[in-house]
Amino acid sequence: MLVHATPGLGPPEGKPMRQREYDPMTTPYGVNENDFPWTGSSDEQAAFLLRYAILAPSTHNTQPWKFALVPGGIEVYADYSRRMPVVDPGNRELLMSIGAAVFTLRVAAERFGMESRVTYSYSGDSERPLAVAALSRRASQSEGDEGIASLFGPIVRRHTNRYPFLYSRVPETILRRIRGLDVGRRASLAVSTDGSVNSQVSELVAAADRMQLGDPSFRSDLAEWIRPNWTQRPDGITGAALGVNSVASALGPWTTRVLDTGSLRAAKDRNLCAQAPGLVVLQAQDSVPDWLACGELLQHLLLIVTREGLHHSYFNMPVQVPDLRVRLRGLCGLSDWPQILLRIGFSLTEPARTPRRSVEEVLLTGAVT
Ligand SMILES: Cc1cc2nc3c(=O)[nH]c(=O)nc-3n(C[C@H](O)[C@H](O)[C@H](O)COP(=O)(O)O)c2cc1C
Repeated sequence: MLVHATPGLGPPEGKPMRQREYDPMTTPYGVNENDFPWTGSSDEQAAFLLRYAILAPSTHNTQPWKFALVPGGIEVYADYSRRMPVVDPGNRELLMSIGAAVFTLRVAAERFGMESRVTYSYSGDSERPLAVAALSRRASQSEGDEGIASLFGPIVRRHTNRYPFLYSRVPETILRRIRGLDVGRRASLAVSTDGSVNSQVSELVAAADRMQLGDPSFRSDLAEWIRPNWTQRPDGITGAALGVNSVASALGPWTTRVLDTGSLRAAKDRNLCAQAPGLVVLQAQDSVPDWLACGELLQHLLLIVTREGLHHSYFNMPVQVPDLRVRLRGLCGLSDWPQILLRIGFSLTEPARTPRRSVEEVLLTGAVT
């Protein structure tokens, strides 16, 4: 069903917003829920939801998504031109990124009183949508999913934090909430706060770092998405997000491509991983629908973690190396394949933001001006 403009539902029309130049580092995060076009067309409302969807995490901030506004909702496409052929040869992480964007879209829809019914379909044809989110207005706000609605605020606050975390434990109440998240889903998760398990996992992370960063083709793939701190490009990871100062960040793409920093990186990651207050492994079977479901679960988890004041970062390296993936699965006693490995904990350091492409740039059709 189409989302019809509903006059009188929201705040009266304010003054037209002054057009400012789009800054990929600040403009997307300046999205304000009070600007929701309550009296606008269904396309304008759907496009506003996309301002939240584009804030989803994606592998190396490739933002491998495209959207189309269609009668009754939004189509979501994979943008395979943004794939990482060496780091992610099977598009596993690309598809999880799409799942994360779809979940974010659902949370935003909920916030503005819409029901979103998402249908995934995978034909292998990149010209066809991977997901269609059918949007309809809820009969009444009270019917909404309050659990999901509480995740709206964290969408703009969530960032990957690669700095050391405090030693403080993750409270048991939060662990219980996280452990219950996977009920009824194709993807599930396991949490470890056991120092001995985490220490063994950290050895796999270090081994993967050495293997991957010793491979020039892997480094070249990574380097494509490393940016200096003052970049105006709307994608990729800045040095600041990796904890690198502005001068060093200028050399980031070059050093990533040319230098084998595997041993240095392994030592750093081993410590961060072994000392992590909590490790979370997302697991699922290896198929397109499972990866999309895993991406949804990932963003659900990250928004809860953020809402509770916790921070997160990734150690996916052993998941990307087939032999180490088998060992990680055994070590964590998983029934499915590990897909994402994260640490969670508290931090006093606010992580740097990463840039985003504008909604206009990721819209295939139905551009709203
Ligand atoms: C499927 C997926 C895999 C990711 N893998 C890694 C990773 O291996 N290492 C890492 O540092 N960050 C990883 N990230 C985090 C992204 O780099 C991050 O989301 C992106 O740069 C945007 O930054 P933000 O999360 O701060 O918004 C991953 C994110 C997703 C969704």
